[in-house]
Amino acid sequence: MALRTILTDNDPALHKSCRPVTRFDGRLHDLIDDLKETLAQANGAGLAAPQVGILRRVVIVVDDQENMLELVNPELIAQEGEQEGFEGCLSVPGRWGVVKRPQKARVRAQDRNGAFFEVEGEGIVARCFCHELEHLDGHLFTEHTDRLYTSEELDELLQAQEEEEEA
Ligand code: NI
Repeated sequence: MALRTILTDNDPALHKSCRPVTRFDGRLHDLIDDLKETLAQANGAGLAAPQVGILRRVVIVVDDQENMLELVNPELIAQEGEQEGFEGCLSVPGRWGVVKRPQKARVRAQDRNGAFFEVEGEGIVARCFCHELEHLDGHLFTEHTDRLYTSEELDELLQAQEEEEEA
């Protein structure tokens, strides 16, 4: 396993469509393991292969049990409801935006050996499914928001919200 470098949003690899995975071999397993290690190191909620410069349809999403889901050739097959909240991306460091996403999302994917499975997520996990899957088509969350906030601005907003709730 090895840590890979996470590309930031001026890199062309983040704006390209990724090819499906057709070989479920050792190379894929190495990529998945590296993505997981890189994601853990970055303390993120999800990571897509193009974020480390590999244009293949592979993403990792952290679920509500803190498990890292390995999703190969994932497709969003159902969504329900709506949520609005702050979102960020390891490829857009220090920037945050308010993005609308479905409250629930269901994904069909293959595992590292090619077996199909389905998985459902709610709240942050549904948000993360949508965010990571978009990376595979070259899209970033910044396309869904008019305004980006710095980490300091986000902290201030969240603190103000908290104080409002306490009052
Ligand atoms: Ni991202």
